[in-house]
Amino acid sequence: MSKHDAIAAEGAVYFLFGATGDLARRKLFPALFSLYKEGKLAEDFAVIGLARRPRTNEQFRADVHESIGEFCRYKADDEALWNRFAEHFVYMPLDIKNVDGFRELSRLTVELDKKFDIPGNRLFYLALAPELFGPVSFNLRDGGMLESPGWNRLVIEKPFGYDLESARKLNTQLSQVFKEEEIYRIDHYLGKEMVQNIEVLRFSNAFFEPLWNNKHIANVQITLSETVGVEERGGYYDKSGALRDMVQNHMMQMLAMIAMEPPSRLHPEDIRDEKVKALRSLRPYETAAEVNQHVIRGQYSEGAVNGKPLSGYRQEDSVNPESSTETYFAARVYLDNFRWAGVPFYIRTGKRLPVKTTEIVIEFKNVPNNILFANRHELEPNLLVIRVNPMEGIYIKINAKKPGAENVVPVSMEFCQSCMVGINTPEAYERLLHDAGRGESTYFTRWDEVAQAWSFVDRIAAVWREGNASLQFYPAGSWGPERTDGLLAEDGFHWWPVNGQVEDNVIWISGGPK
Ligand code: BG6
Repeated sequence: MSKHDAIAAEGAVYFLFGATGDLARRKLFPALFSLYKEGKLAEDFAVIGLARRPRTNEQFRADVHESIGEFCRYKADDEALWNRFAEHFVYMPLDIKNVDGFRELSRLTVELDKKFDIPGNRLFYLALAPELFGPVSFNLRDGGMLESPGWNRLVIEKPFGYDLESARKLNTQLSQVFKEEEIYRIDHYLGKEMVQNIEVLRFSNAFFEPLWNNKHIANVQITLSETVGVEERGGYYDKSGALRDMVQNHMMQMLAMIAMEPPSRLHPEDIRDEKVKALRSLRPYETAAEVNQHVIRGQYSEGAVNGKPLSGYRQEDSVNPESSTETYFAARVYLDNFRWAGVPFYIRTGKRLPVKTTEIVIEFKNVPNNILFANRHELEPNLLVIRVNPMEGIYIKINAKKPGAENVVPVSMEFCQSCMVGINTPEAYERLLHDAGRGESTYFTRWDEVAQAWSFVDRIAAVWREGNASLQFYPAGSWGPERTDGLLAEDGFHWWPVNGQVEDNVIWISGGPK
């Protein structure tokens, strides 16, 4: 049993700021219910929903019930269990700009502490716009919310700033109220089962780690593709774009997990130290010419998926009809350290691509071509593919003799995790809320990681701002701007098919991908 399975979160009051919002409905209420159902939340907890809009406790509980019915992997059909769970939920309307409301909140909290025998621990989850993080923190302090005998933890969502400067300002505000170890910055990719599994795969298998370097690895490819467009989030997305929305956080975090050195202990700070070292060794683009050479910036235009016509980004709601915001990003990046010198990491992410998938492909170098089989056959490189989302698992591609023939053929061996646990794998938010509730901060981003990722991304943004990089269009439903293939071809590589779509000649040992 892993430590994740075993330990219930410590008794605490959970304050959900933004309790009437989308994140609470889709992710947080279902996550709390799953944790409760699995015994990871004991009876010593309370949840206070906070938002401006008036709501009674009954209405709030009805919202929670509805959200669980729609989004939770467990159903709330055991009435006794539901009633016990629901009793822990209360709602209080709050104007977050007015400190008096926080004093009232403080009184309510003390009552709940008594009722549920909670030892004064407080977890503040801000599902709010980032410009409110600072003011809410100040009012928590000034309203006397941080004076209880237990611990205080602040959980916040991305985006953490818009660039390094704004992120720094935000951090300065937060650090006037909370210590770094009290701040839990969410990157929900770090809550995904297979992203956490990278560490286990790398550091607990004798046959990966010895090969995990520039002597044996030819390149690394990280793809995070989405079929959705910008949906109803045009207002936010048009100011953000793929670089800030996906690269600064999720892509950089996955890259750091792949590239980091083994930590000396499995302690959160040791792991995060290694991740930040990896991010520090990212080679910065020094000039506009370098950005243009290594980075591709795309935006989807009209297109179609399965015959269904789709509009272009500029036609989406709340998007500037002349917007030059990127919905696609691809880049060749290098890490200048002993392990990775000379190994290109190709990263790409985009909206309105043909499939929804997140995959990491490690392509190994070929065996020397003057020996044995390589002399007589076209050998394909060995691959290790980590499938993060929505299918979870790994497969490796090796060369083997075709049965009954002379030929050498590629063979894939698969460990399909989703086939084993089905859809019942814990949601990222479940894992992260559970971790925050028991003070396990490994899979939250530390300030120096965030700052490092911003400083890498800011250089690209600066070149784009000066208009030095032309935006390239791609039809919705395609794999991005044409030049994306060129990025790898220039180095003699190509993107490996993702989503289990391996080439036709591969023989599957376990029946092939689902
Ligand atoms: C979010 C981005 O962080 O991640 C969204 O803001 C994106 O634009 C989402 O759609 C993707 O997450 P997942 O877990 O669905 O791959």
